[in-house]
Amino acid sequence: MSINYSERIPNNVDLANDRTLQRALEHWQPRFLDWWKEMGPHHFAQNDVYLRTAVGVDAQGWASYGYVKMPDYRWGIFLADPEADRKIGFGDAYGQPVWQQVPGEFRSQFRRLIVTQGDTEPASVEQQHLLGHTCPSLYDLRNLFQVNVEEGRHLWAMVYLLHAYFGRDGREEAEELLARHSGDADKPRILGTFNEPISDWLSFFCFTYFTDRDGKFQLKSLAESSFDPLARTCRFMLTEEAHHMFVGETGLGRVVRRALEVMKELGTDDPAAIRRAGAIDLPLLQRYLNFWFSSSLDLFGSEVSSNAATTFGNGIKGRPDESQYADHVCTDASFELETPEGRQMVGLRNAMNEVARGAYVKDCELGLKRWNMAIKRAGHAVELKLPSTRFRRSIGAWAGVTTDPEGKITGVEEFARRQSEWLPSESDRAHVASLMQRVVEPGKMAAWIAPPDRGINSLPVEYEYVRLG
Ligand SMILES: [Fe+2]
Ligand SMILES: [Fe+2]
Repeated sequence: MSINYSERIPNNVDLANDRTLQRALEHWQPRFLDWWKEMGPHHFAQNDVYLRTAVGVDAQGWASYGYVKMPDYRWGIFLADPEADRKIGFGDAYGQPVWQQVPGEFRSQFRRLIVTQGDTEPASVEQQHLLGHTCPSLYDLRNLFQVNVEEGRHLWAMVYLLHAYFGRDGREEAEELLARHSGDADKPRILGTFNEPISDWLSFFCFTYFTDRDGKFQLKSLAESSFDPLARTCRFMLTEEAHHMFVGETGLGRVVRRALEVMKELGTDDPAAIRRAGAIDLPLLQRYLNFWFSSSLDLFGSEVSSNAATTFGNGIKGRPDESQYADHVCTDASFELETPEGRQMVGLRNAMNEVARGAYVKDCELGLKRWNMAIKRAGHAVELKLPSTRFRRSIGAWAGVTTDPEGKITGVEEFARRQSEWLPSESDRAHVASLMQRVVEPGKMAAWIAPPDRGINSLPVEYEYVRLG
């Protein structure tokens, strides 16, 4: 097959003149499309969707909007503009010029990081495969598809790096990224969370709020990398990622708003009454937040990690927003950790996962502040809270230690007994599942979610964002 490169694959990597890359992509692109058709949004291939497509990296006009059938989406390859004379920003080679090629001695570490990042992108599309059938509105359906096509593009971004800088190994890894599947018994996705199906929209909003935000912080760390093409690729991905956070934050905010409306109409905060009215009560939402926050924390890895120290020392992966720190070498600094055995001092380089996790937690708090403001304005004393970072951890110092959401160690029995106060119960999940009825009349919303404040790209909320025909 022949491809008109700049038409078919918008890019700023001079694809039209790169024969090696063209050959690799000619082989990979049809497989990607097969994967999309099989594993992407189920049943919506023929519908026009009002989508944003990246067409450049200019901050003023990097995207165009219009109706597209998803299989015709133009997944492009974009790197943020190079920074002249960019220097390595952290680690042992601090201050030296950045690398335009992967140094041989770090090749396998870079490849593993890129593959792990790349693996999460198609994984989330697979997890959300069936969600379109139960959308609460056309506006939300469009946002789901927007997130899906952009995760597809993020896969392209990582595959570009593998094809362009890792030769034959890279091509093999690119194939494997399409061969592993979320939840597959034989070939699952690499990270645990990405093998859980996302079968309801409350989970989708929690996923985009918490798990995509983990992605944001991973990308921020990689955007600091000494390997300049990786840094530039991730910097541009962050531009798109902002919308995914927006979908999560406004989605959960609208769930809160709707709960408050129903509480006001009924004059009660009794969860059973709110459920009977077809909305989501705040205690249920709190349990979903507890679940998704704790599982996303694990994605940062162990508090103490020699691997984190090595990737930092080697200049492979920095801290999110590295420029906010004074010391970029961190050989003498230490970090205080809280472990079940008490406080413990560790070398800062070994605690880089925890540093990134701390920044992530702060970022997670912002949305809760906004939702709590709405709750307070409505005259209620309830507050939504992030659970302690010790709660329900499967990785690191607190793995397997049972605590309550405040982080106080409990016995295993107490945890089992009170679990349904703290985490989604069978009846919570059954209630959420019962609400998943598709609403597709333009401008209409399902009863469990308030309308958004505004539409996409200055269009009205009642715009026909997806033509179901
Ligand atoms: Fe992504
Ligand atoms: Fe994302």
